[in-house]
Amino acid sequence: MPDLVFPSNFIWGVATSAYQIEGAAQEDGRGESIWDRFCQQPGAIEDGSSGAVACDHYHRWREDIELMRELGVQAYRFSIAWPRILPQGFGRVNRAGIDFYQRLVDRLLEVGITPFVTLYHWDLPQTLQERGGWTARLAAEAFLEYAEVVSRHLGDRVKHWITINEPWCASLLSYQIGRHAPGYRNWYAALSASHHLLVAHGLAVPVIRSNSRGAEVGITLNLKPCYPASPSAADRDACRHFDGSFNRWFLDPLFGRRYPADIVADYQTAGYLPAGDLPFVQDQDYATIAVRTDFLGVNYYDRAVLRNTRIPEVQNEPRTVWLAPESEWTAMGWEVYPQGLFDLLARLHFEYQPPKLYITENGASYRDELDGRGEINDQQRIVFLRDHFAAAHRALTLGVPLVGYFVWSLLDNFEWDRGYTQRFGIVYVDYATQQRLPKRSAHWYREVIRTNAVPLDAVASPLSS
Ligand code: FCB
Repeated sequence: MPDLVFPSNFIWGVATSAYQIEGAAQEDGRGESIWDRFCQQPGAIEDGSSGAVACDHYHRWREDIELMRELGVQAYRFSIAWPRILPQGFGRVNRAGIDFYQRLVDRLLEVGITPFVTLYHWDLPQTLQERGGWTARLAAEAFLEYAEVVSRHLGDRVKHWITINEPWCASLLSYQIGRHAPGYRNWYAALSASHHLLVAHGLAVPVIRSNSRGAEVGITLNLKPCYPASPSAADRDACRHFDGSFNRWFLDPLFGRRYPADIVADYQTAGYLPAGDLPFVQDQDYATIAVRTDFLGVNYYDRAVLRNTRIPEVQNEPRTVWLAPESEWTAMGWEVYPQGLFDLLARLHFEYQPPKLYITENGASYRDELDGRGEINDQQRIVFLRDHFAAAHRALTLGVPLVGYFVWSLLDNFEWDRGYTQRFGIVYVDYATQQRLPKRSAHWYREVIRTNAVPLDAVASPLSS
């Protein structure tokens, strides 16, 4: 089979986020974040751990850039820790925080790696949580100030900005399902949080643009293609509801269509929202949220298959659970479904027409172990990436304006409520020594980048040695 060749200007990258890799939680004036606090709650994190040390990237960033250089990655997506920049959420700027990211960016540019900066990857300053967190409009206003400060200091060098990472996780998963910080279980809080996250995005975009000439600015959503488990009307309705609450709830307002009326009605029927206008939406908000962006960032991991049955233990939406048929699963318990990436990209292109798309995250967690030769032969991850790259390539042939792909993640790291139980890296981290060891998938990815092509038949051969 011939290799799948990508367009010559296609960007291959890797991604991380601040709380998951930096550690140094109390150093150089960094303020407390909601994740520092959440990790202290008994039972919140599967292995009782926290990001206090993580990959110690705050001290090892030079080495980590060197790893990326050896891999040949063209772009690095990382996030900025808000509490390192504004320890109180707004007001006083912590110079040491700015310095850290300036050094990081300068070194990336020196070695020819393009920085893609995410402003918010979930580590809200704790002081803002005490004032309501994302349930309060104040958080969006503080975000505007934070975005202004960061883009003023980095905007001459950073030309790719992502405002918010995965507002679904930062709102529904965090304020309703309670699995992420701050761990609340309240529908109204979650929906108002989702709104304020979108407002924060909309407020920040023009400010970033004015501080960073010629920059590309966008937002990253975690999206799931949805399929009904059967053609029954009930299952199709469950699918509609899931798609509406997970995907359209964010896509529609971002693309100027306001919140989906069917989902607002579902929430009102369930009593999660009052009848009538949404109380947290102010006059200008829809215009603010629908600000023009340069790209949409997509994090894709798996699909949802919906059956309309009530199983209380796994229910996280009214009337809907997701059940997947016989399938392959990663260690995270996520289904391997590359076709979903194609379906999702095609749908975004046809229904929403974003000017450009990046896959800002895609990857997999597997039980990586050192083999007899002290190597990590993560064939499953290679096959996972190969098949997802191939799905992305098929989307390109359909005309989808996909311009880059970031593998999650450069390093094994702190996987939120799953602690250190999940290894998503293409580079293994021995947490006892902080040693980094590129896995086979890293070597494989280096070849993909070098040749700008995905080998379809050669997957087994370089690995069988
Ligand atoms: C995404 C997050 C990222 C990482 C991956 C596995 O939802 O954005 O930080 O945890 O999942």
